[in-house]
Amino acid sequence: MLGSVPAFFANAGMTFAGTFHGSGHPIDGGRMFRDGKRVFGEGKTWKGLIGGIIIGSTLSFLMIFVYIALEQGILGGSPHWSDLKLITLQEVLFFIHPSPLNLIMRTVLLSVGACFGDLIGSFFKRRTARERGTPFPLLDQLDFLLFAYLCAYAFFPLPWYYILVISLFTPLVAVLANIVAYYLRKKHVPW
Ligand code: CTP
Ligand code: MG
Repeated sequence: MLGSVPAFFANAGMTFAGTFHGSGHPIDGGRMFRDGKRVFGEGKTWKGLIGGIIIGSTLSFLMIFVYIALEQGILGGSPHWSDLKLITLQEVLFFIHPSPLNLIMRTVLLSVGACFGDLIGSFFKRRTARERGTPFPLLDQLDFLLFAYLCAYAFFPLPWYYILVISLFTPLVAVLANIVAYYLRKKHVPW
């Protein structure tokens, strides 16, 4: 699962960067699409897009760095890049020896892909006449992830069953988070 982490970091980073210190300039500049609805909407800003890519990549590289430092420091080894166990068994099947270039490329492409996937998701939400913030189940939870996998595919070709399993479980986390938020009285409905 750790291999997918940059996409999730970028997704969280987008909301953080986008809402930090006031809202930024919308990417569509307020423009309408042919159908008279906003192209992306007020919730998709340059600050969020660029910030998400930077936060996603930086946190992921930091995580890899901490991992290597811990393995060297605590376990006393002097691991070669090929010893990196930042990958699961399934991922090992596809990348037994991730090179530094591969790790860099997949981290950046997963971050970039996540932020653009979220933007594409909002494009479809506006086309189906959903206002900013209106939930679109599954699209909201999977747009960033699936587009991230597509963008990183050349460096991170996951098998279909991995993508299927993570696509089933990722929305579940959102459902659980909403139920918790409901019982903490932060939300009015438990979904
Ligand atoms: N955000 C941003 N820029 C982005 C993505 C997100 O500024 N590219 C910020 C916005 O403040 C947004 C918040 O993060 O409101 C939450 O993101 P998201 O849920 O994706 O946006 P929504 O406001 O729900 O808009 P949409 O209906 O288009 O999903
Ligand atoms: Mg939303």
